[in-house]
Amino acid sequence: MKQDVIVILDLGSTQNTILARKIRDLGVYSEIHPHDSSVEVLKAISNVKGIIINGGDNRIVDGKAVEIHEELYHQEYPMVAIDYPQSKCAVNWEELPDDKTLKAFLFDDCKAEANWNMKNFIEDQTELIRQQVGDKKVLLALSGGVDSSVVAAMLIKAIGQQLVCVHVNHGLMRKNESEGVVQVFRDQLHANLIYVDASERFLGKLEDVSDPEQKRKIIGGEFIRVFEEEARKLEGIDFLGQGTIYPDIIESGTKTAKMVKSHHNVGGLPKDLKFELVEPLKQLFKDEVRACGVELGLPYEMVYRQPFPGPGLGVRCLGAITRDRLEAVRESDAILREEFAKAGLDKKVWQYFTVVPDFKSVGMKNNERVFEYMVIIRAINTIDAMTASIEKVDWDVLEKITQRILTEVENVNRVCYDMSPKPPATIEFE
Ligand code: XMP
Repeated sequence: MKQDVIVILDLGSTQNTILARKIRDLGVYSEIHPHDSSVEVLKAISNVKGIIINGGDNRIVDGKAVEIHEELYHQEYPMVAIDYPQSKCAVNWEELPDDKTLKAFLFDDCKAEANWNMKNFIEDQTELIRQQVGDKKVLLALSGGVDSSVVAAMLIKAIGQQLVCVHVNHGLMRKNESEGVVQVFRDQLHANLIYVDASERFLGKLEDVSDPEQKRKIIGGEFIRVFEEEARKLEGIDFLGQGTIYPDIIESGTKTAKMVKSHHNVGGLPKDLKFELVEPLKQLFKDEVRACGVELGLPYEMVYRQPFPGPGLGVRCLGAITRDRLEAVRESDAILREEFAKAGLDKKVWQYFTVVPDFKSVGMKNNERVFEYMVIIRAINTIDAMTASIEKVDWDVLEKITQRILTEVENVNRVCYDMSPKPPATIEFE
């Protein structure tokens, strides 16, 4: 590893990631490690320049205050402790993160070099991937989402044709989305890409299923089966690429974590398919993943796209999925995205999409009574997706979108705008 490392020992502080971000923003790479990390573990990380013991009020787990290994004090690493009274080198939280104290620690005490940037990171990772993989092959499920796309680009750079990407089109993708993945990865980056159109298979399994969680289960389960079938057709693959990122690792539980968030993404393969994982982004925060993607030459729209749920349009075609309503969701979503981009809202609004409920309402078209579906538009802003507020979209923009949906999308005679914040409404309808 070329880059210097500052280790933050996690004693349950909610400020761990803020601190890590702050240090990285000053150009020095920083990693969060469990409070009870041993000297051996820390020594195994090359280039550790200093240690921050990050204490605070949350240091109590199961009624007991957590402590760090005593032996760490007897090493040569420069150390500073925040809100951790046991230590002689303690400062207050208010004191350290002010840039002056932090900079003095990083650059004077630790003599760290500000060499954390995406170019160096990519160089480091390329080297590490080559060392790990050798001349073997890596398999990657490439959904076209930010994380899997950036992993793919990184692996293509490192090992080229030794990477085999599998893109499964579950029939619930947005308009032209699968075509875009093939275009970027096969045509532009010359990836070894297997495209599987499993639309019919997924729609068949989902027929008459209206419960949202059941739909998610079927989509997730079927995805694994399709991917597994493809994996079994291939020979001589030892590794599986994965778009794990730093928040996944931190959120799924450091030793002091109080709340573990449940991830509802597709994942997990049968035990008898034994792969070693390659996870080159596992140290990056989301915005760093995007910066890495740009540095690797991926298109801006791919790297800065809005979040899209794993089950795709399946949870936006409400209730039991039918082909006519799925088409209405897909077409109305495409119109919404096009008009948001024209109005510059695509760079401002966090997430925006349409849903189609499974009931009809009465209307008039060409002087005749019609009984058709409704499209609901939702556009929200949020920081962490736990709470959200609606975007106050300009009335003229909404009218234009409505007009286009009513004339261009079949089987639709009504358009509504969802005014609900989260809570009580969730971002998705299902
Ligand atoms: P909710 O609807 O829970 O959504 O307010 C919060 C965020 O999570 C996304 N979401 C999902 N993402 N698989 C995913 O990968 C899912 O099953 C899923 N359900 C919701 C949602 O789009 C929003 O960004």
